[in-house]
Amino acid sequence: MTRHFLRDDDLSPAEQRTVLELALAFRDDRYIRTPLTGPRAVAVIFDKPTLRTQVSFCTGIAELGGFPLVVDGNLAQIGTRESIPDTARVLGRQVAAVVWRTHEQSRIEEMARHAGVPVVNALTDDFHPCQVLADLATVALHRGGVAGLAGRTFAYLGDGANNMGHSYALGGATAGLHVRIGCPADYAPDPTILADARRVAATTGGSVTVVHDRDEAVAGADVVATDTWVSMGQEDEAGLRETPFVPFRLDEDALALAAPDALVLHCLPAYRGKEITAAVIDGAQSVVWDEAEFRLHAQKALLSFLLEGRR
Ligand code: NVA
Repeated sequence: MTRHFLRDDDLSPAEQRTVLELALAFRDDRYIRTPLTGPRAVAVIFDKPTLRTQVSFCTGIAELGGFPLVVDGNLAQIGTRESIPDTARVLGRQVAAVVWRTHEQSRIEEMARHAGVPVVNALTDDFHPCQVLADLATVALHRGGVAGLAGRTFAYLGDGANNMGHSYALGGATAGLHVRIGCPADYAPDPTILADARRVAATTGGSVTVVHDRDEAVAGADVVATDTWVSMGQEDEAGLRETPFVPFRLDEDALALAAPDALVLHCLPAYRGKEITAAVIDGAQSVVWDEAEFRLHAQKALLSFLLEGRR
């Protein structure tokens, strides 16, 4: 059966643990597994800007023995020049997997229905599940391994309705975390996704709560994360997306309320002085560079899992 990774709960809790263990193993030895030896091409398509995602997928695919084929979404014009199902069928006849950064979640779901090869979400408007795998692996690295994740409190400040808010809820619940989302009332997670996350949390011993007070969100937390207030595609709303978010800034006062050794995460790009202060992101508790590095290891682990499972 062709497996996809379109949203965080496409991996069961046990499968997520397997992928995270493999991510940590790849960090120790970048060539422990080379499932793409052939070599086999993987299409990596971008309809939105990228730095980390392009570099980490391309590096990772090459290290797995494959060939990363970057497709510029502006040239391909998927869904405009050629329908998504037709594009999916063409790609599926040629590449081992499709990695896609695009807009609506429905676009990547349609790709997955027709590709016949694994499709991986490299960020949509609704989810960024590869980033959350990297975040979880980073916390595991610093806090006693994958087995040490469940039961920890993970606070996320900022836009609860964006891809990171949703993926932290769903991926964090899968890992058995107590996820606290601190966001303005008008930027709360999608209720359907929240309900899905809570259903998963009920099976893992985790929980997902949404609060509209920064201090309540971060109190005693083991990990504190934030993200830009203006996601890709929301540039026109930049003026609106300032005032409501200022009370949710991750600054020194907020961090002081978390556990004394709390880890600080940011998926990057970061806007110092907006969602996070320089003192926090550049401070001793920040592990954002490990987090960025884990994009590579986590995505290699994910691709290995998806591709080896097909054999
Ligand atoms: N929420 C951000 C994440 C960037 C990695 C965005 O979609 O732009």
